[in-house]
Amino acid sequence: MSESPSELKTLKEIAETLNQGNDLQIVLNEVLKKLLDLTGFKTGWIFLVADNGTFELAAHSALPEALSWENCRLMCDSNCYCIDQYWNGRLKSATNIINCERIYHAIKQKTGDTEGITHHATVPLRDQKKRFGLLNVASPNKNQYSEKELALLEAVALQIGTAVKRIRLSEIEQQNVVLKERNRLAQDLHDSVNQILFSISLTAKAARETTLDESLLEQLNFIQLLSRDALAEMKSLIWELRSEGLKNGIVEAIENYASLIGLPVELTVTGSIALSAKEEELIWRITQEALNNCKKHSQADKAFVTIISLKGQLLLEIEDFGIGFRYDPDAQIHSLGIKGMEDRTKKYGGKFSVKTAKNKGTKIRVALPIISPEKEEKGS
Ligand SMILES: Nc1ncnc2c1ncn2[C@@H]1O[C@H](COP(=O)(O)OP(=O)(O)OP(=O)(O)O)[C@@H](O)[C@H]1O
Ligand SMILES: [Mg+2]
Repeated sequence: MSESPSELKTLKEIAETLNQGNDLQIVLNEVLKKLLDLTGFKTGWIFLVADNGTFELAAHSALPEALSWENCRLMCDSNCYCIDQYWNGRLKSATNIINCERIYHAIKQKTGDTEGITHHATVPLRDQKKRFGLLNVASPNKNQYSEKELALLEAVALQIGTAVKRIRLSEIEQQNVVLKERNRLAQDLHDSVNQILFSISLTAKAARETTLDESLLEQLNFIQLLSRDALAEMKSLIWELRSEGLKNGIVEAIENYASLIGLPVELTVTGSIALSAKEEELIWRITQEALNNCKKHSQADKAFVTIISLKGQLLLEIEDFGIGFRYDPDAQIHSLGIKGMEDRTKKYGGKFSVKTAKNKGTKIRVALPIISPEKEEKGS
């Protein structure tokens, strides 16, 4: 199809508008206004449809009173043939919708002036691969859209679809940057403040050996206790900072974390696991700490994480084939990672064990009783 100069101008201006921002809602509203200006259609609206089939009114412009009634209630609550056709897969290209079901409801419910709108044209929003919404336009007393108009709408819908995809990808990128930053902050706190507190604790310990003065001993003891408490506080803050990222489930969280810290991880999940939020959080935090340890101490170039659900039990193993534990007397004082994993597991009624052998590697094993989410809700 060869576009006329005015169509080319429309496509060019739409492309420019779409390139002007990264906020989906603002961009969609702007582009809709621009489309109406350029084409002369009176009103338009965009639905975004999620993978689970739910739809949201993502943008609208110059809706008649009957449809903008009560904060666009009819646009959000009731259905229309366009959404039905989208759902049943019949809406493949730009189409004339015979009449708008929402307008029909609006007239029945007397929600206001329809401003002559009875029909709309509808086009699926898509990129090259996937559909993810609808663009609708309408004009007063217009019940037929020409082939040319529909072809233009289709080209615009493809442009909008590609922009929606670009914006969504940039949102994901943005979230990853935030996650990375939180992780870096956690690491910095760990490496700087933790080390200072650790030194205070060690210095107080050493100073105690040099005096017999009772009151001085007491104060040094106090300093040691305080710095230990501060270390524990710091550690829990670091756990908090790292706990972001669980939104899309444990598997994605572990994979993302592994790539954030630059440690290849082979993850195996066996059995169907419906974890409660508490279980998921516990597994996530333990896995993070164990992977962190692999990265920091094991010298292994890979870690293996296995999650198995078996007869009301959940087994989590994090294994590496690195150098194994080296005896470090200082680590007894400041190391809170393993202790944190063990305490949290026991608090949950589970069993915790560490197996380690020189130059053979380390395996952390956690066995948890699974509490179904319903039981947990009733119990809590
Ligand atoms: N996968 C591993 N391979 C080799 N050594 C390990 C491994 N995991 C832990 N260790 C050893 O066990 C010690 C205790 O680990 P732990 O996680 O409790 O403390 P940490 O990592 O030194 O400090 P932090 O309190 O920041 O976690 C480590 O200092 C390290 O010597
Ligand atoms: Mg550790």
